[in-house]
Amino acid sequence: MALLSVLTPFLAVVLCLVIGFMLVRSRETETTSPTSSGETAGAPKADSRPWVDQDLQDDTEDKGNEDEDDDLVDNEEEDHPQVPYSASGYPEETMLERSKDFYTLMNQRRTVRFISPELVPREVINNAILTAGTAPSGAHTEPWTFVVVSDPETKHQIRQIVEKEEEVNYLQRMGVKWVEDLTKFRTNWIKEYLDVAPYLILVFKQIHGILPNGKKLTHYYNEISVSISCGILLAALQNVGLVTVTSTPLNCGPQLRLLLKRPANEKLLMLLPVGYPACDATVPQLKRKPLYDIMVHI
Ligand SMILES: Cc1cc2nc3c(=O)[nH]c(=O)nc-3n(C[C@H](O)[C@H](O)[C@H](O)COP(=O)(O)O)c2cc1C
Repeated sequence: MALLSVLTPFLAVVLCLVIGFMLVRSRETETTSPTSSGETAGAPKADSRPWVDQDLQDDTEDKGNEDEDDDLVDNEEEDHPQVPYSASGYPEETMLERSKDFYTLMNQRRTVRFISPELVPREVINNAILTAGTAPSGAHTEPWTFVVVSDPETKHQIRQIVEKEEEVNYLQRMGVKWVEDLTKFRTNWIKEYLDVAPYLILVFKQIHGILPNGKKLTHYYNEISVSISCGILLAALQNVGLVTVTSTPLNCGPQLRLLLKRPANEKLLMLLPVGYPACDATVPQLKRKPLYDIMVHI
């Protein structure tokens, strides 16, 4: 009895330690368990590839959930007539000249992080977006929405959302190696160009379409399709002497989607501030790989 009363405080301490340890373990399990954004067992851990946006999860397809899949319809098969295709052909000499000229133009494209506030004609932006909309898309679903923002208050709200998330990205999510890899670009979470550029173009991918009857339309390869249209948009901007910053603000998608009142089937893929380069703009010195490093001819 005497031994038991001596041991009781010791046993109480051990019991507290065991309970405390179990509580800590259960919290750890909760924070690493599948998230509401759809991360599943077997999916890559967020911290192993910190550049994969949680909202996108590197997932080009809309997996949906099994109940909702009933609403997903195959794209309607209509009787599409074939029409003649006539391309403007060029003599070989002209082809060669045009290929060189286009390369020269595109080789001058740079990511410019210092953008002038000078206004750009709206029609030029409209035409650049029309050009982006000529991109090929899986089953011609055209799964893109380009949101053009010129309203100063909305641009500022976008800047606030992006800077708040980017500060967390730089300080916590990205990790030492990624931040080190970016030092040559002198980027940080301060994004002045989001206020200064006359236009911000936010490119959303539609993970599925919505038919007038409310049913979902499959958007095959939507991320690849929208990425191609972004490339064409960059070329169209370069063609008229405008600059941009190809940016994929990590984990800002859901907040920006709500701010811009976009529907839930749209996910932010890219944010492009667009304008003329600032007169004192600088860019990091970079070299591009030569042809023999990027092409294999068999
Ligand atoms: C998918 C993608 C995401 C990028 N994200 C950012 C970004 O968040 N911020 C930024 O300043 N630049 C970003 N860039 C721009 C790259 O840093 C830039 O393209 C690269 O350094 C090559 O420079 P150049 O575009 O001048 O040729 C991104 C580029 C790509 C293709």
